[in-house]
Amino acid sequence: MTTIDTRQQAQISIRDLHKRFGDNIVLNGVDFDVLPGQVIVIIGPSGSGKSTFLRCCNGLEMPERGDITVCGKTLLRHGKPLPEKQLNALRQDVGMVFQPFNLFPHLTVMENLCVAPVMLRVLEKVGLSSKAKAMPGSLSVGQKQRVAISRALAMSPSVMLFDEPTSALDPELVGEVLQVMKMLASEGMTMIVVTHEMGFAREVADIVVVMDGGGIVESGPPEQILTSPKNERTRQFLNAVLTRQ
Ligand SMILES: Nc1ncnc2c1ncn2[C@@H]1O[C@H](COP(=O)(O)OP(=O)(O)OP(=O)(O)O)[C@@H](O)[C@H]1O
Ligand SMILES: [Mg+2]
Repeated sequence: MTTIDTRQQAQISIRDLHKRFGDNIVLNGVDFDVLPGQVIVIIGPSGSGKSTFLRCCNGLEMPERGDITVCGKTLLRHGKPLPEKQLNALRQDVGMVFQPFNLFPHLTVMENLCVAPVMLRVLEKVGLSSKAKAMPGSLSVGQKQRVAISRALAMSPSVMLFDEPTSALDPELVGEVLQVMKMLASEGMTMIVVTHEMGFAREVADIVVVMDGGGIVESGPPEQILTSPKNERTRQFLNAVLTRQ
């Protein structure tokens, strides 16, 4: 029998990832593989390290320990990162879309450098070519978020990371952003999405990952995790989210 080395095939491969802020241990030995074309949805309570995990995946946050391989390139090995120049090259492979209210003022200089000129082709893709010359201030929040997605797509990334892209949108605007993400998924884009939109997770995710207490407490196909979770913390978390929705 041949064993498949998922690490070789993975678009993103994470081993034994440790990240702390001072005394606050946020990631305590995370292992994770994302295969090409997979859509991973990450859920979990506030403060469980979901954003920190995503930021580690494109080198915006540097862990103290662990290995990260992205698109066959080593980002971090035994806790040692790539030189900054190579990190920047690698970031072009990994597009990132942030929480809407983080869009401009809260971005670090580094994050703003990830901003690429928006190409018409990608604007067309998200249904906004008529808005190419519009000032951002004249767009709805949903349209702004679609621009943010096209900005990340303009780099032709191999992987897209989404950090709660719809969390600050009015309910009627959530759908248009999710629609663009569904289209990307159906085109085979590899995606890691932090979201509490359970309908999206159920419909689009290949794997749902539950984070809590510094690590992954459970992962599996959406119907299993969302319908019959094994872990008590997952159950509590889903109850809280579903009561809110
Ligand atoms: N730059 C930072 N400096 C210090 N502490 C940080 C920093 N970024 C995150 N943290 C801490 O790390 C922990 C995890 O934060 P993180 O933002 O990754 O959680 P999260 O799961 O994304 O939460 P949320 O659902 O609220 O977005 C929190 O305790 C947070 O206060
Ligand atoms: Mg977060």
